[in-house]
Amino acid sequence: MSMSKLAPVLALALSVSVTAAFAQTPGLGKPLTEADIKPWDISILPDGTNLPPGSGNAATGAKIYTEKCAVCHGVNLEGNAIPGATPLVGGPPLTNGIETPKMIANYYAYATTVFDFIRRAMPGTSPLSLKDDEVYALTAFILSKNKLIGENDVMDSKNLPLVKMPNRDNFILPYPDRI
Ligand code: HEC
Repeated sequence: MSMSKLAPVLALALSVSVTAAFAQTPGLGKPLTEADIKPWDISILPDGTNLPPGSGNAATGAKIYTEKCAVCHGVNLEGNAIPGATPLVGGPPLTNGIETPKMIANYYAYATTVFDFIRRAMPGTSPLSLKDDEVYALTAFILSKNKLIGENDVMDSKNLPLVKMPNRDNFILPYPDRI
């Protein structure tokens, strides 16, 4: 068959199979309910939108930290007790150049990100296992060790978004009205 004859045949074959694919779906999956979606809808916005009820302070956080975090992040939050576990305290000025380690105190624009990250990703071996009170306490502990809040400050959905991170104003926001 010459190429000029093959082309219309191919086009016809494609259109038939596409129509067939729409007509006969494999019948997989099921519609999602609000309740199905809720456990996945855990993103915290910079202004604290979506923060859950609960609270915690640094003293409680210190105990949980020793139990569940120090094995990787080090007893004094110095990091790298296992390779790749970032230090959770300190951070040199970012003006030292592009290779400067970007850490919580010198980089994060919003304190709410600390909560979000811990809740969704930590401890590295069992993410999503912490209760919200534990996440607030751990967030308070880490912020307090970085001297970004006082030792006795309680973190909850009202207080956490009010913590001003040192690097907050050094980001260029493409859509400032959406924050
Ligand atoms: C099994 C090891 C392990 C354990 C246990 C662990 N982490 Fe991590 N953590 C890591 C690693 C590895 C990273 C770096 C992840 C990355 O870069 O994506 C990290 C990153 C983080 C970060 C982000 C730091 C940054 O500079 O952005 C925070 C915050 C954090 N961990 C908190 C905790 C807390 C709180 C606990 C205890 C509940 C904990 N981690 C337990 C391995 C661990």
